[in-house]
Amino acid sequence: MQLTVALKRLFPSPSPDTTAWRIYHDAIAGIWVDHFDGRWLVQTQEDQFPGFLESLSEGVAGSIYWRPRDKAAATAPVHVSGNEVTERFVVKENGASFWIDFSAGYSCGIFLDQRLNRRWVGETARPGQRILNTFAYTGGFSVMAALAGAGTTTADLSKTYLNWTWDNFTLNGLDPHAHHGVRGDVFEWLRTFARQGRTFHGIVLDPPTFSRNGKTNFRTDRDYADLTALAAALVEPGGWILCCANTHGLTSSLFERDVIQGIRKQRRRVLSCENPGMPPEFNGDDYLKSLRVVVE
Ligand SMILES: C[S@@+](CC[C@H](N)C(=O)[O-])C[C@H]1O[C@@H](n2cnc3c(N)ncnc32)[C@H](O)[C@@H]1O
Repeated sequence: MQLTVALKRLFPSPSPDTTAWRIYHDAIAGIWVDHFDGRWLVQTQEDQFPGFLESLSEGVAGSIYWRPRDKAAATAPVHVSGNEVTERFVVKENGASFWIDFSAGYSCGIFLDQRLNRRWVGETARPGQRILNTFAYTGGFSVMAALAGAGTTTADLSKTYLNWTWDNFTLNGLDPHAHHGVRGDVFEWLRTFARQGRTFHGIVLDPPTFSRNGKTNFRTDRDYADLTALAAALVEPGGWILCCANTHGLTSSLFERDVIQGIRKQRRRVLSCENPGMPPEFNGDDYLKSLRVVVE
């Protein structure tokens, strides 16, 4: 395995104003390395740190942290070498800044595989538009839309993540008080917005594979059409829905079928539907499905 890795190159930064990206990705060996402004976060399929990575990191990483992927949902990464990271720190992606916290557990603040979609939201949103970011986590999509001058509404179950979102807003010179945040179940909020007659020019749907909360029992591979239908009721004519599903077992064609079904349930028409694929360094299995759908 050592030879395989040594022969493969580390991915360079995708742009001069990006300091966080996947620097190494080998789904066959089960080794993934994310670079966070000079700190490496290594994830492995096996329950053992691949020691040869230390020599590969020389001159590239000031610290290395590691966690086995099967425990990733619950375990914060452990320190392997270099300087200890004791505080949260800032990374840049396409010029926007985000707080990273290695001690946060579930994930450290940003899902790097969504870089192209975050950039697209930043390029697509316009001043004065209303953009809704659901299942928002630390608000990466909201930050990009707000930096473009749009008004944003950020929805998540977690107060911790909503607060993290506002910290990311402040970090980028954006005033959190000029934007909306709603805490609670996204499915409930989408129904509430429909009752209130609220509409949005753009809506980001990026749910977890499974979500159980109160009456909600959602699975991406079973219920995506229903979720899309709830969003399609709120999108303005000519507006867009960015539909994402991070589900290995769901094929791209079934996902597209579900998304289009959901939009038709609201008697809306799809004007265009684009699949951007994943960032190039995430080679191999296209587990993250994304569709940028414009609705008539
Ligand atoms: C996969 S992360 C979303 C990643 C995010 N879109 C991004 O790109 O950074 C899932 C998020 O959904 C939230 N969540 C899960 N179920 C939810 C529900 N029923 N309603 C609202 N938020 C939910 C979690 O708290 C978590 O922040």
